[in-house]
Amino acid sequence: MKIAVAKGDGIGPEIMQAVLKIFEANKVPLEYDFVDMGKWVFDKGFNNGMTPESKLTIENLGILFKGPMETPKGKGVKSVNVTARKTWNTYANKRVFQTLHGVDTVFSKAGIPIDITVVRENIEDTYGGIEHMLTHDVALSRRFITRPGSLQLIKYAFEMARQKNARRITCGHKANIMKITDGLFLDCFYEVAKEYPELKSDDVIVDDLCMKLVTRPDTFDVVVLTNLQGDIVSDLCAGLVGGLGFAPSANIGDHICIFEAVHGTAPDIAGKNIANPTALLLSGIAMLRHLGYMKNAAEIENALLYTLEKGVHTGDFGDKSKPSLNTTEFADTIISNFGKTPELGAKELLPNKPAVQTVFHLDRNPMMVSKEEFQEKIIGVDMFIESDEQPGIIAHKCQRHAGVKFNLINVSNRGTQVWPTGSVFTNLVNQYNVRFESLDGSPLNQQDIIGLYVSLSGNFKICSLELLNMWGDKRSYSLAQGQ
Ligand code: NAI
Repeated sequence: MKIAVAKGDGIGPEIMQAVLKIFEANKVPLEYDFVDMGKWVFDKGFNNGMTPESKLTIENLGILFKGPMETPKGKGVKSVNVTARKTWNTYANKRVFQTLHGVDTVFSKAGIPIDITVVRENIEDTYGGIEHMLTHDVALSRRFITRPGSLQLIKYAFEMARQKNARRITCGHKANIMKITDGLFLDCFYEVAKEYPELKSDDVIVDDLCMKLVTRPDTFDVVVLTNLQGDIVSDLCAGLVGGLGFAPSANIGDHICIFEAVHGTAPDIAGKNIANPTALLLSGIAMLRHLGYMKNAAEIENALLYTLEKGVHTGDFGDKSKPSLNTTEFADTIISNFGKTPELGAKELLPNKPAVQTVFHLDRNPMMVSKEEFQEKIIGVDMFIESDEQPGIIAHKCQRHAGVKFNLINVSNRGTQVWPTGSVFTNLVNQYNVRFESLDGSPLNQQDIIGLYVSLSGNFKICSLELLNMWGDKRSYSLAQGQ
């Protein structure tokens, strides 16, 4: 079976070489097609950080094993890592954090075992990177949470939890504040949970989750989160088991999967052959299991666990009184430990399954639409306008534009209502949200909204607008603080 391999930037080539050497020594039956991706490809003028040939190779092979890649600093350049995950719809980012014997942490010293799998949504949220300056003072990021995207991720998480006989599956969220976006994610979680009655499913608000993870990590098993919260929580979990050097990551999609370490290119130690290859090796082991190479995966993992148990370490962890090994020596020690069994956490040597190269030829982009259950009607509009005037003056001007169709409901600034009620102690910025609703509650159409837009633009610069929809009797928008 053939997979695509991108060595990456910084420490990427060093740790990839170490991992592939371990694979080769273990006779992993894989062939590699090395693809051009990363900072050096950006530098050659390819704006998405990969050549068209590399893109085609990855799409044909379906599996990418990659080293970390640097995102060039500067305007307009997107991270190749995020581009790859999004372009190929690897919607689930799975990161397993386990106590590794030989990697001392406060929890391992206290005898508290950790085995947490974080499943993070990988495409949506603020990672859409859709950002605009609305005024010279006000930046806006659009945060997309979608029903099909959430369901895709959450179904994967529940199925994975069932297969690993998980004790508990927990949704981390902030639906108490972001009632529409995180509320939708949480609704999807409980919708899917109904199909898995044997699993204990619950939810925890993300700040409380962080506190509970650092105080009682042993009570968690599978944790499901939206993209940004998942990013933060998974680094927190990496810290619980010894740091980024031990955090593997699998980006799972229906057609293409990407396996990589969680850490970055570590520019401070690049080129010195001292980086820790464990995270990339653990990602590689996860890839082998994904492909069905169970025996190879278990043999390599047992050798790694045995090596760690014996106190062998690279410079970034372990007992400082013992000399550290460099990347190559560390890999060679793992190879020399093939066939040895760790005292704790030894993996069962299941036989390899026949690997099947699955190539998907899609002739159109898959469209994900869920069934609309309610009739939608437009009942108003939020106009985001630029102004440094006081709320009363703005309201007075806006009322003139409301005409016979609209009613001015309120004016808010940074989400806090400042008219008709509010406080002079609320600090303002030069961008307001002016909310208009239909005068008599009757449905509006887009022409009505455009009419209001044209009228209002005589007085204000309109930075953006959002329609206020009702679905049946359900409001599809949030209220301002204090409304
Ligand atoms: P980083 O993870 O590269 O480094 C943070 C710290 O951890 C550094 O002190 C580094 O020496 C250490 N470290 C990381 N991996 C290590 C390893 N395997 N062995 C020993 N020490 C290790 O994070 P940073 O500095 O924020 O990012 C550097 C670059 O990497 C940036 O350009 C960033 O965009 C990129 N990056 C790429 C990722 C990917 O390809 N998936 C993920 C995260 C960052």
